[in-house]
Amino acid sequence: MIPLMKNAFLNERQTKKELAEFICQADRLSMSRQCARFEEKFAAFQGAKQAILFNSGGSANLAMLQTLKNLGRLKTGDRVGFSSLTWATNVMPIIQLGLVPVAVDCEPVTLNVMSYNLQQRLDQTSIRAMFITNALGFAGDLDVIRQLCKERNIILIEDNCEALGTELPAGKTGSFGIMASFSFFVAHHMSTIEGGMVCTDDESLAEMLKIVRANGWDRNLDEAGQRKWRTMGNVNSEFDAKYAFYDLGYNLRPTEITGFLGCNQLQYLPDNIAVRESNYISLESVAKENTDLLEIDRTHIKRLSNFAFPVLCKSAEIRKRYRRRFSEAQVEIRPMIAGNIQAQPFYRKYVSEFHDLPGTEKIHNCGFYFGNYPELTRADINTLCSCLAMPNEAGEKIESEYVPAKYGQFDPDAAAAEAALHVEQNVLRSGEKRPGRVNRKKKEILSQ
Ligand SMILES: Cc1ncc(COP(=O)(O)O)c(C=O)c1O
Repeated sequence: MIPLMKNAFLNERQTKKELAEFICQADRLSMSRQCARFEEKFAAFQGAKQAILFNSGGSANLAMLQTLKNLGRLKTGDRVGFSSLTWATNVMPIIQLGLVPVAVDCEPVTLNVMSYNLQQRLDQTSIRAMFITNALGFAGDLDVIRQLCKERNIILIEDNCEALGTELPAGKTGSFGIMASFSFFVAHHMSTIEGGMVCTDDESLAEMLKIVRANGWDRNLDEAGQRKWRTMGNVNSEFDAKYAFYDLGYNLRPTEITGFLGCNQLQYLPDNIAVRESNYISLESVAKENTDLLEIDRTHIKRLSNFAFPVLCKSAEIRKRYRRRFSEAQVEIRPMIAGNIQAQPFYRKYVSEFHDLPGTEKIHNCGFYFGNYPELTRADINTLCSCLAMPNEAGEKIESEYVPAKYGQFDPDAAAAEAALHVEQNVLRSGEKRPGRVNRKKKEILSQ
């Protein structure tokens, strides 16, 4: 079985050990110093002035829109464009906050909204903001989209939950809009179990994001920020300030576990991105020779931090065959995110405005994806390559000679052997089974 992902963490065993030690000696586990440290380090990684940590990527999306509403930059009834190939909790807050979602089509071969898709929607209708998703680690021509939004006075925000580390020649994804969200849920580029972030260069947005994150109060602002809000709110004593609530907020706070894991996992992120890219290039070299499949165009992308490998078939009929092929090879596959979001039950329940989305329909009907992560072994990659290859006339399997990349600490074969050893030790500890089978598995992996 090749699952969507194998581990919760990069360098899993060591991370779990360090996490256990951290929990045992920590004097406080609610949001505090570790979270602040992670925010600082992540802002530096992303090249943003501010990073605000949340308990999930979905929370980060909700907080960005609530922030724009609290600051009056968006008003109830404003129309918000969004990528029609996205995740449910990208669109749900648009509806929840009384804004009107306007689906913008995606280009099948880039899986994303391109500037011409946005231009086409703008020719038909107006929008006040564009909430663009960088899907599966890919992105559209974000520099042109940013320019288009600037010319039309449209607020651009990014959902970068699936594209941490991807770069266009004009910059990293997640740095084109006035804010961008990130997710650290398991199976993303780095995991804090649950977790999310918003990056921004705008101090007033950062301040409001902190208010929105924690009950609408000012406790996480610096002194000058607190003074400002207390003066505006006529809050005159430290006693009253403890429970003064300045604007609409939630409790979307992370914990110190999130912060600790974030700092810990960030050290492995560059290696992880490099291995994902290298895996992608190997798999792509087989997929592009297969005339059943449409080739994904990444020529405008400088660094591909691939989230998962997309398989886009030429027709729905062909997809049926490939779904069967991957399932028979025991490869876990998924639909292309939420597919055409307009077809989702929640969307049909709450939204009355629908748009033609031929590109997203194509992706919805003809696509699926499988996982790409550093723990894929040579045997895994060979299996994936044989699933992606054009079936030959004799119907035999095609073996690839791919050797997985070894960057820094990531040697996928050694990681698999270590994982097997870990299982063996757990089995021994629990006393449930003899370790013979696990040992054999470990030897098999090591001898590959
Ligand atoms: C594009 C996109 N946005 C938002 C989210 C939500 O992130 P989380 O699961 O951390 O809430 C996801 C989750 O995978 C996602 O893929």
